[in-house]
Amino acid sequence: MSQERIESMMDEKRHFAPPADSRGRAHVSGEAAREALVRRAAEDPEGFWGERAAQLIDWFKPWDTVLDADMNEPRIEWFKGGRLNVAHNCLDRHVAGNRRNKAAIIWQGEPEEDVRVLTYQMLYDEVRRFAAVLRKMGVHKGDRVSLYMPMIPELAVAMLACARIGAVHSIVFAGFSAVSLQNRIHDCEAKVVVTADAVLRAGRRIPLKVNVDEAVRQCPSVEKVVVVNRGSLEVTMEEGRDLWWHEVMADRTLDVDRPCEEMDAEDMLFILYTSGSTGKPKGVVHTTGGYLTYAAHTTQWVFDVQDDDVYWCTADIGWITGHSYIVYGPLALGATSLMFEGVPSWPSPDRFWRIVEKFRVNIFYTAPTVVRALMREGTDWTERHDLSSLRVLGSVGEPINPEAWMWYHTHIGKGRLPIVDTWWQTETGGIMISGLPYATTLKPGSATQPLPGVDAAIVRPDGSPAGPNEGGHLVIRKPWPGMLRGIFGSPERYRSTYFERFPGMYESGDGARTDTDGYFWIMGRLDDVINVSGHRMGTAEVESALVAHPSVAEAAVVGMPHAVKGEAIYAYVTLGADAEETEELRAELRAWVRKEIGPIATPDVLQFAEGLPKTRSGKIMRRILRKIAAGATSEFGDTSTLADPGVVSDLIEGRLQLT
Ligand code: WT7
Repeated sequence: MSQERIESMMDEKRHFAPPADSRGRAHVSGEAAREALVRRAAEDPEGFWGERAAQLIDWFKPWDTVLDADMNEPRIEWFKGGRLNVAHNCLDRHVAGNRRNKAAIIWQGEPEEDVRVLTYQMLYDEVRRFAAVLRKMGVHKGDRVSLYMPMIPELAVAMLACARIGAVHSIVFAGFSAVSLQNRIHDCEAKVVVTADAVLRAGRRIPLKVNVDEAVRQCPSVEKVVVVNRGSLEVTMEEGRDLWWHEVMADRTLDVDRPCEEMDAEDMLFILYTSGSTGKPKGVVHTTGGYLTYAAHTTQWVFDVQDDDVYWCTADIGWITGHSYIVYGPLALGATSLMFEGVPSWPSPDRFWRIVEKFRVNIFYTAPTVVRALMREGTDWTERHDLSSLRVLGSVGEPINPEAWMWYHTHIGKGRLPIVDTWWQTETGGIMISGLPYATTLKPGSATQPLPGVDAAIVRPDGSPAGPNEGGHLVIRKPWPGMLRGIFGSPERYRSTYFERFPGMYESGDGARTDTDGYFWIMGRLDDVINVSGHRMGTAEVESALVAHPSVAEAAVVGMPHAVKGEAIYAYVTLGADAEETEELRAELRAWVRKEIGPIATPDVLQFAEGLPKTRSGKIMRRILRKIAAGATSEFGDTSTLADPGVVSDLIEGRLQLT
């Protein structure tokens, strides 16, 4: 984050008291109630979490121990001995109870007239069918299924069908390339891939199935590919491998009455790949009992979801936000979750507000990058719509700058709605630091305080606690039910990434400070991971894509401040002896990265460099590259270790602006 942004946050003095719980039904009402919960959870964490797990989740068999853990090893087991099924909790029990005819998913397709409402009964029926389809294909408990799909109801159906039979899903965001998909399928050895012919986006049809064809060529584990017809795009179907969703679902011989698989609390629920500081994405593993408890718990408290609410999280299900806050959390609670296939800016920048008005949305959860982009379009678009149904607003993905917070509060919240700024990560499974809408005084730009039961702290590099306003490493000192249980296939990487540097604590990789009120201010990643539009991107991943191009000798990638995206990708590229620095090659390299990883990884700026600033031992000095990218070319700090100081002035001279 830019120095300017940090300073504007340091000066932030505005406070917003929580609205009164006038209907008297908020889940956590008032600051005193929140504080009592914080104390209770700190004094008796196992009692606290055991109580929440019993209140929120249906268990086939109760657990023997709430928590059995050692963060040094690490070994984390929640609700050991407990047995449950996630799909049962999200569907069966609501159907058997009184929510059979309640909308589980309201789906707004990309075209305005494409709306589908799936009641709990309808979703349950679809899920049981697809579960039977998977079983018939030979998918067993523990087998992996990759889902590479648009934001259509079939994606939620496929997730819950996996959960129903105990298969592990691995969702790959549909914006990732064939190469990225292939790496992810390969890493988890998926047996089945579910996809669609195309993704509808901003009025266009983007082919999707072709990427699967390309990816699966190198993935011997894949036996079947199921294809949803979303865009009626012509696709090639490989005989014996590829099947249409609508055809397999119409199979009259399916055994749809099989009961849910009884899962152990610690059985794997899903894998989700995320970027780290090395080139290879990590397959973050979440398990059944703790994850579901945590998703339901945080959805209920942080958004104050009530039975009659329409709740909308605008994320894509391909990211953890969509897993926890479109599907698992809301459905476990029996809530109505709105799912949107399109983008905020198409056909016009009021698409989101049109949807809020159309479905009378009560709770709205989005990302700062969206707020900033819509803020630029002006308030004519927001004033055109009746937003009076809204009650709670949320933000996630990156720090929300106070300017964007104030715009969100004034023009969407009409000066009266609470904004919960939720800090968390793929690894944490659910929200960790956030205000509670009827219980927390808000400060624009601060994620406020850790939730009850979350022991977050800021520590110095030696692990000792940092004082107020002293920046440091954001760590979690006690286990929580939603935490990751591993990196698929890499126990050692799991240990060394999260539990090695600060013994007995979970290391988030983020920098933060607390103010004198104990409020948390997140400063951003401390590792070589950048945050582009709320999505995590490893600089090493982009670098390895660049150096895979035959013309590239060396590449270094850093983040630079960007007004809408938060951070943009700035790449420095040194060419091989035979290559020439041309505009064509610059465009080709950007397209190359797009193809290797996906559009989100495309460098915004690509500067050709004769050489890169290195220490005498050959280490690239990224600190300097970040400064040059940001245009801060005077303050380099200590450059005495540079092998060739001349390189720096050349780079400054060749610096490119964002266009
Ligand atoms: C990283 C995690 C968690 C869902 C979306 C991203 C940053 C996330 C906030 C926030 C400041 C935030 C952190 C974190 N981040 N939310 N409210 N304030 N920073 O999940 O891809 O795993 O990225 O996003 O840097 O480490 P992710």
